[in-house]
Amino acid sequence: MENIFEPMIVAFCCQWCSYAAADLAGSMRLEYPPNVRIIRIPCTGRVDALHLLHAFEKGADGVFISGCLIGDCHFLNGNVRATKRVAHAKEILEKIGIDPERLQIYYNSSAMGPQFVQTCIDFTEKIKNLGASTISSMLNVQNEGECHGGKTE
Ligand code: FES
Repeated sequence: MENIFEPMIVAFCCQWCSYAAADLAGSMRLEYPPNVRIIRIPCTGRVDALHLLHAFEKGADGVFISGCLIGDCHFLNGNVRATKRVAHAKEILEKIGIDPERLQIYYNSSAMGPQFVQTCIDFTEKIKNLGASTISSMLNVQNEGECHGGKTE
């Protein structure tokens, strides 16, 4: 049987816009891939590069931040700060051998439910094409070893 890769994707979503957009998508009965695990945050400016790297360390194959449109952040420039942090985290990812394309930032207002869904679909497809990240592959091998009661080689 063919083993189809299903990536684990973490999405940090601002409660004022993208999280509300996800809610709107739900109200509109729009579906997005179950690969995306949403973490609600008060503003994208609250996300530190360490949070992003920690998600990869815990096995995420892809991570994205979704915040308010530029100029619409409830905390003035949180999304601008987040954009800079994503750029910094991408540099770190590249240095440690993880494709920086696995990390992105998007901007969706609370009225953009369909666009948020499309963001999830497109990003999931992108990560599927990239395949499992090095870390998630290692974690999966370890877990398989544990499931069978033995060590992996
Ligand atoms: Fe949404 Fe700052 S409040 S990005």
